[in-house]
Amino acid sequence: MKAIEIRRKYLDYFKKHGHSVIPSAPLIPENDPSVLFTTAGMQPLVPYLLGEKHPEGKRLTDYQKCVRTNDIDEVGDNRHLTYFEMLGNWSLGDYFKDESIAMSFEFLTKELGIPVEKLSVTCFAGDEDCPRDEVAANAWKKAGIPEDHIYYYGKDDNWWIAGEEGPCGPDTEMFYDTGKPACGPDCQPSCDCGKYVEIWNNVFMEYFKDENGYRKLEQKNVDTGLGLERMTMLLQGKETPFDTELFSPVMDKLKELQKIDNIESRRIIAEHLRSSMMIIADGGRPSNLDRGYVLRRLIRRMIRHMNKLQIDLDSLKELIDIYVRDLGEMYPELVKNRETIEQVIIEEKDKFVKTLSNGEREFQKAIGKLEGTNVIPGEIVFRLYDTYGFPPEVTKELAFENGYEIDMDSFNELFKKHQEKSRAGSEQKFKGGLAETTEETIKYHTATHLLNAAIKKVIGKDAHQRGSNITVDRMRFDFNCDHKLTPEEKQEIEDLVNKWIKEGLPVIKEEMKKEDAIKSGAECMFIEKYPDIVTVYTIGDVSKELCGGPHVKNTSELGRFKIKKEESSSSGVRRIKAVLIDE
Ligand code: SER
Repeated sequence: MKAIEIRRKYLDYFKKHGHSVIPSAPLIPENDPSVLFTTAGMQPLVPYLLGEKHPEGKRLTDYQKCVRTNDIDEVGDNRHLTYFEMLGNWSLGDYFKDESIAMSFEFLTKELGIPVEKLSVTCFAGDEDCPRDEVAANAWKKAGIPEDHIYYYGKDDNWWIAGEEGPCGPDTEMFYDTGKPACGPDCQPSCDCGKYVEIWNNVFMEYFKDENGYRKLEQKNVDTGLGLERMTMLLQGKETPFDTELFSPVMDKLKELQKIDNIESRRIIAEHLRSSMMIIADGGRPSNLDRGYVLRRLIRRMIRHMNKLQIDLDSLKELIDIYVRDLGEMYPELVKNRETIEQVIIEEKDKFVKTLSNGEREFQKAIGKLEGTNVIPGEIVFRLYDTYGFPPEVTKELAFENGYEIDMDSFNELFKKHQEKSRAGSEQKFKGGLAETTEETIKYHTATHLLNAAIKKVIGKDAHQRGSNITVDRMRFDFNCDHKLTPEEKQEIEDLVNKWIKEGLPVIKEEMKKEDAIKSGAECMFIEKYPDIVTVYTIGDVSKELCGGPHVKNTSELGRFKIKKEESSSSGVRRIKAVLIDE
């Protein structure tokens, strides 16, 4: 079965079971500046897992594009990927363990035709925070999983949370037995030997964790995630995702183009190219900071491996074409953004090629000077990064090829200091979507707070901000709302904002403890992402929001507010575009 068919079957199956199919959120989270990329299907759904009403109902399903970069330097082995697709289904306070497990079992065995004996499952073993998950285990037994294929593990294996804080809970994981011989008498799903491969994870999200520990959520949710590349590989009986149709045409082409044979390099090239293309299609661009830096590393590492295999860098275009041709049906955004993708990748390649050979020379010089050690100090790794644009993975690989190691810890320290400095300059982009700070953008920023307050008055207090974006000549504001605004609603919102501007309300900035801010009723999009001491901006008695600023001193500075457009942004989310006109 091809990947696209597995995706189709999945969405159809859950649709048949009452789930609304929702679109994949972009890889670059529009409304969450605190994370670099979307890393799981649940990420865009957090507000709904916490109790907000989703306009599409309580049962949702989708495919979600994800990028995870913590293992970037593992790519090249037979399983790690930076980009992958996660199929998911959710219950937002609707069904729970029994039904979720029954559906997973039916989908795996009936729709995908996996023999029951190939499946093993794991459940949460229980601890002081949460009891042993007998309910899940019984549901598996009832479905048809034999008792000796059910395992219990602790929080390390069977508990899911994104990061340190947030919605979480025990999970049950499904494993596929590849048929490889057991590595020993203790070989179990938790074992890394490759016999068992995890295929699906159902999280029973009924807790929320913060610095005070665990508390129960108001609603019991189910969040599941099934990795498409892995499932495709297993169903096709392939050893690695690179042997499936998702990668194999590019892998074959690389084999044809290479002058030196190295399978790891081919995988790195194929994987990093696909990831880069997906990130660029969703608006990512290479830079030295955060998201942009991830993309830069992916492209540069790919280029170096192309050089290593002595593949002509001009063949990048051909490789991009293969992906657009083969993945275009799954990801129409690749077809739509084909030209931009090519342009961005070629430009970045050209930039890197300029410094690459000088950097390699510098590297050779530096190791020539090392005495009595095979560890390359962090300062050299940093200099190669700073002066020649060498991502540390590249230096690490170069070092390895020459019999050296790098001092990654001291590099990381230098890098962190450097990033903090650069980030201070671009901090604003992480605050309410402000990309640059000028007199105009500051005005728009204050207008955003007024608009947020006006929407709440007109549409209802459950209409929350979902994102915003400001340039010097307009603002954009996203909020949840289940209908297109009527002309009257639009007018009323516009009038309210203008009334508050005319009233000349003072804008007051205060610092306070996060808890006090919440108690005082201050608005905020991602409460868990803020530090303990926060800045709160209050505008008259109209608006109070956690915000980094900056803002004008008085609303009378804003001019006249005009809504230019109101449209759908994504399902259940409306977008207002507005301008301020000098009076
Ligand atoms: N959030 C869980 C995961 O990422 C299940 O979707 O595995």
